[in-house]
Amino acid sequence: MPIRILVVDDTELNLKLVSAILIKDGYEVITARNGLEALDVIKTSPPALAILDVMMPDMDGYTLCGHFRQNPLTSKIPIIILTALTGVDDKIKAFDSGADDFLAKPFEPQELRARIKVLLRRTVQEEPAQNSDVVGKVIAVFSLRGGVGVSMLSSNLAASLSQIWRSPVALVDLAFMNGQSALLFDLPLRNTWADVGNSPAKEVDITLLNSAMLHHDSGVRILASPRRPEDSETVTAEHVQLTIEILRKHYEYIVLDLPHDFTETTLTGLDMADQILLLLAPETASVRCAGNALDTFSHLKYPDERTTLILNWPFKGKGLPRTGIESALKKEINIVIPFAGDAVVSSIMLGKPSALQTPLDPLGAFLEDLAYLNSKEEHKQNPPEITRDRIWQVKKRAQARQWKS
Ligand SMILES: Nc1ncnc2c1ncn2[C@@H]1O[C@H](COP(=O)(O)OP(=O)(O)OP(=O)(O)O)[C@@H](O)[C@H]1O
Ligand SMILES: [Mg+2]
Repeated sequence: MPIRILVVDDTELNLKLVSAILIKDGYEVITARNGLEALDVIKTSPPALAILDVMMPDMDGYTLCGHFRQNPLTSKIPIIILTALTGVDDKIKAFDSGADDFLAKPFEPQELRARIKVLLRRTVQEEPAQNSDVVGKVIAVFSLRGGVGVSMLSSNLAASLSQIWRSPVALVDLAFMNGQSALLFDLPLRNTWADVGNSPAKEVDITLLNSAMLHHDSGVRILASPRRPEDSETVTAEHVQLTIEILRKHYEYIVLDLPHDFTETTLTGLDMADQILLLLAPETASVRCAGNALDTFSHLKYPDERTTLILNWPFKGKGLPRTGIESALKKEINIVIPFAGDAVVSSIMLGKPSALQTPLDPLGAFLEDLAYLNSKEEHKQNPPEITRDRIWQVKKRAQARQWKS
């Protein structure tokens, strides 16, 4: 889950300005327009950090800060006081009330960002178990043969999972040579894996990862592969391992778009996956590649049930029959994705995965159901309250497909 920040200000414009900066940096923002609202909101959504205005009707920022310090939900969180009052007395008052930092308005967004980072780093170090209740599910999409739909499936899975469970999902593109994840969401490559590779692996933390990921409105956060393959040279298997370990503590789902190889970084992704979706197309070379992948998984002692075999039809017309493929691979095909023609191409051109662009069309619905099927058991058994209406529909539709999971 992303880090949640509470912003309290009675001026709508200020709320919007501060929120925009924070959202862009990947934080989840909750807002309140006065002290009472803030005290109410922390009961259901305790934040990791709070930014408080001083001059507000009813309760000023100093008093609110004092209340936060007495409340066990917020007693230890970093608090920044943001105010137009800049006298020394005002600063002293802020620190006396329990604030950690003080920033005068108007402020530079860069300065706010830097201060938040420092304060969060400090608390994360002090309280490593802060997010220990989240254990994200890692789903790897893989094929040794190119062009069979790995990126199509991983981008749609990430989009659907974030929509179904109303929670941000990390899409990690490990195809360093020609990864297209950002393109599939029509996002400019402002940040990429290169930002992570430039830091020593041991220094990778959630703040760095959140700033290296691209943020899509759907809630998908993408760790994109760099524009030029050579820019990923500094990314090691250790970077990949630590990145997935950290993301797992903050995101309910982490989807890996893997390249068609067994390099060390790819193997790290496969080793760490809870579920591997092995994709193949109904043609000889692809079946052979799937066979090689299954052999390798067996040498690596991956349990059989970790791999779901998915037959995708990226082309129209004749292809090998399902039963023939199953007997060649000595493994049952769990799911067949039908050829969807132009729907996929237009979703790529638009930079909007089918599951987002046309969720009710056959392909969009199919991919959403597939995402439901691969969701955490605990989510399926006990869906979070806000998702209930939606889940009921998806569940009914997915069950009707009678997939062999
Ligand atoms: N079910 C489908 N129906 C129609 N077109 C599909 C389907 N699945 C994939 N495609 C198309 O096949 C092409 C390859 O898909 P994609 O890029 O996802 O594969 P990939 O395995 O990630 O390949 P690579 O990474 O090697 O480029 C894309 O143009 C995509 O639109
Ligand atoms: Mg791809």
